[in-house]
Amino acid sequence: MNDVVKIGIAGLGTIGSGVIKSLLRNQSDLEKKYKFKFEISGISASSKNKERSFNASSFVWFDSPIDLARDSNIDLIIELIGGDSGIAYDLAIEAIKNKKGFITANKALISSHGKELSRLSEENNSFIGYEAAVAGGIPIIKTLRSGLVLDQIKGVYGILNGTSNFILSKMSEENKSFEDALSEAQILGYAEADPSFDINGLDVAHKLSIINSLCFAEFPSIESINVKGIEAILTLDHKYAKELGYNIKLTASSFSDGGSLRKEVSPTLVEMGSSLGRVSGVSNVVCINTDYNGTIILEGEGAGEGPTSTSVLSDIVDYSSNNKQYLFNKKFADLLDSKCNNSVIDRCYYLRVFLVDQKGAMSNLTSILGKNGISIDQVIQRGGVHLKDEKNFTPVIMITHPIDSESIDSAFAELINTDLISMDPIFLPVLKDNL
Ligand code: HSE
Repeated sequence: MNDVVKIGIAGLGTIGSGVIKSLLRNQSDLEKKYKFKFEISGISASSKNKERSFNASSFVWFDSPIDLARDSNIDLIIELIGGDSGIAYDLAIEAIKNKKGFITANKALISSHGKELSRLSEENNSFIGYEAAVAGGIPIIKTLRSGLVLDQIKGVYGILNGTSNFILSKMSEENKSFEDALSEAQILGYAEADPSFDINGLDVAHKLSIINSLCFAEFPSIESINVKGIEAILTLDHKYAKELGYNIKLTASSFSDGGSLRKEVSPTLVEMGSSLGRVSGVSNVVCINTDYNGTIILEGEGAGEGPTSTSVLSDIVDYSSNNKQYLFNKKFADLLDSKCNNSVIDRCYYLRVFLVDQKGAMSNLTSILGKNGISIDQVIQRGGVHLKDEKNFTPVIMITHPIDSESIDSAFAELINTDLISMDPIFLPVLKDNL
């Protein structure tokens, strides 16, 4: 390892520009604290002449990011382009094959190509840092890679997407519409270039799959995770959930179930005062159930320039300290392909339907639920509340007694084929704290 680490940075959007400003601002502090110096030896992005929040003309410009990885003067590539294929993927492969260090905030890349990256990094003895890929500024990757060295992890759950948590919080706390809350998150730089990944649960699934690799010795895979997004949640759902003592959060969870793993991303009702229920705005939280250390809870900002830059800088320090860890805590040969778990557990569910306002409708609804083995614990129905364009339908909210997901799926299938309801019903699991 050279005493001066020469860095090439590809991608100069909110995060890339943030990393450069942060490196410059903290240069002398970092040099006092650690036994290395660094230099930004090249930068690259799709457009050279775009106005940026730092002075790009004071750095050597590379038209192609791939040339950064081929430059013998550069030791460490920082990829902040994004996307699981194309230039970000090509850059990763080129950097590793050229024995450069490689740091990324790109969860889609690490999740989709984890198997190949694990093999290549071992073959080439290259460093790959991805602290910024999961939960923004929360040091979850380091905690799992080097903190809990002795522990067997039994389960992990939390909130892993800042944008969706910001949106849900704005809907719940300020009665905002989904659209208004999303555009606010985009202006603040939290959302992905394509925000549909923040909304449909895929961003969370990428992050959970990376955590799973570290906790459960499997290659990352989102195919083995049950994924549902927040598209169907209405401001009205937050209002009724709160009346019942819950907040609605997009949660991620993986639980070891006697040899196999139950993995899920889903909007979930969580108790208001619980470790997940009180996390608001762009914050994330990760709870790790361990055997030696009980439950460890890490909470902090999950997206945005500042937190993500902090995590990238911590990877630079790791690289410069000559970190010798395997990519996912184990050798390539000791990792397994990820499997789905079809085991069923009983949970309470929140149900919201817009029920037709006519004689016998409630009795028909409960009879469909009853036929599918679903028993009701709590019900809310208020006269006078309607869907905007459908005055004949009124919201009915129920909390069920514990029931398996197959019964819920079968009741859903039956309900959508009746004239009893307008728009699809939603069924959301209810999380009693610590599952
Ligand atoms: N769009 C992501 C989020 C950025 O909101 O969490 C951080 O991964």
